[in-house]
Amino acid sequence: MKKIKIGLIGCGSFSAIHLAGLKSQKRAQVVALCDRDIEAAKKRNEEFELDAQLYTDIDDMLANSDIEALIVATGDQAHREITVKALYAGKHVLCEKPMALTIEDCEAMIKAEDESRKKLMIGQICRLTPGFIEAKRLYDTGVIGELFYVESTYAHDYSSFTDKTSWRADPLRHIVIGGACHAIDLLRWIAGNPTETTAYSTKKVLTELPTDDCVVSIFKFPNNVIGKMFTSSGCKRPYTMKTQLYGTKGTIIVDNTDNFITVHRERVVESGKVLDGAFGKEQENEVYVRYPITIDNHNVVGEHNAFLDAILEDKPVPTDGREGMATVKVCRAVIDSANEGRTVQIEY
Ligand SMILES: NC(=O)c1ccc[n+]([C@@H]2O[C@H](COP(=O)([O-])OP(=O)(O)OC[C@H]3O[C@@H](n4cnc5c(N)ncnc54)[C@H](O)[C@@H]3O)[C@@H](O)[C@H]2O)c1
Repeated sequence: MKKIKIGLIGCGSFSAIHLAGLKSQKRAQVVALCDRDIEAAKKRNEEFELDAQLYTDIDDMLANSDIEALIVATGDQAHREITVKALYAGKHVLCEKPMALTIEDCEAMIKAEDESRKKLMIGQICRLTPGFIEAKRLYDTGVIGELFYVESTYAHDYSSFTDKTSWRADPLRHIVIGGACHAIDLLRWIAGNPTETTAYSTKKVLTELPTDDCVVSIFKFPNNVIGKMFTSSGCKRPYTMKTQLYGTKGTIIVDNTDNFITVHRERVVESGKVLDGAFGKEQENEVYVRYPITIDNHNVVGEHNAFLDAILEDKPVPTDGREGMATVKVCRAVIDSANEGRTVQIEY
């Protein structure tokens, strides 16, 4: 079986998740690692027994013609430069979320994607999370009828990330784009592109950081659907991405930390017999069903499989540059709305 030769740039904390996933990947092999801190690259090379070529400079790495595809796992500010260079160097790219911190950066990346005709996939990993896939599948089959309201949360205690010199403390890297891009991408995937947003934000916990740590935004989606995103990086609670889909015939509740999805539905009774909702606590007119799912917050294996399918079978990636940019546009609109105290229209 052909193995795609992969290089990974950025050997920090998230690289360990990618490399663990790639260890069992039959269709790819990690042949190169790059980090401007050579010790970080060495550490990952040893930890995962890779025998990879090590680099500190991306241009040197890109000159290696053996490398067919790259995973970009540096801080967000470097995504644009590395992705653009890699695409023009003829490599396929899987770039971590968020695609970039500005729309201008996203546009440059899409130009390189188009001109190079190489695959660009943005790591919007929630679209590969088993619970969210199942929730969307259930919704698509019509289980809850027509959607009228959708909400998603990204609540994640970032108290350990308050180093003011870190790339995470850049004012451009607001929690809405750095973290809540997951919730916003999920809302877009389910309900389509929101056309306007109104947001409010506050900062009471991570006061040493330049941006607010709590944001709530409401949206207008197509087809007369409304929605809400809530994010907090100062919250004291376990990480959650609780997401709820309200439809005319039922409601789906899914959380990345729960190994069940709950679907509440109106009771379907024919000739005195209940036809669905075989288990669960029944209300007068409503039943609920719990669907077991696997908890996998970082399904990089699913992400790598989608990326490799696209390369090997010349298929589209699930989240290309345009999808990545649309999520960044919504994130930036939410931030503008909260900062400027106005409703913001979103154009794609
Ligand atoms: N999908 C997810 O759920 C998820 C989770 C965590 C992080 N991420 C994303 O992954 C990326 C990396 O996050 P992290 O937590 O591993 O960060 P990190 O700070 O731990 O690691 C980043 C590494 O990149 C290196 N680096 C930065 N610029 C470089 C350059 N120009 N050339 C070579 N090396 C460079 C740094 O030296 C560092 O070792 C970010 O984009 C982040 O948003 C995604």
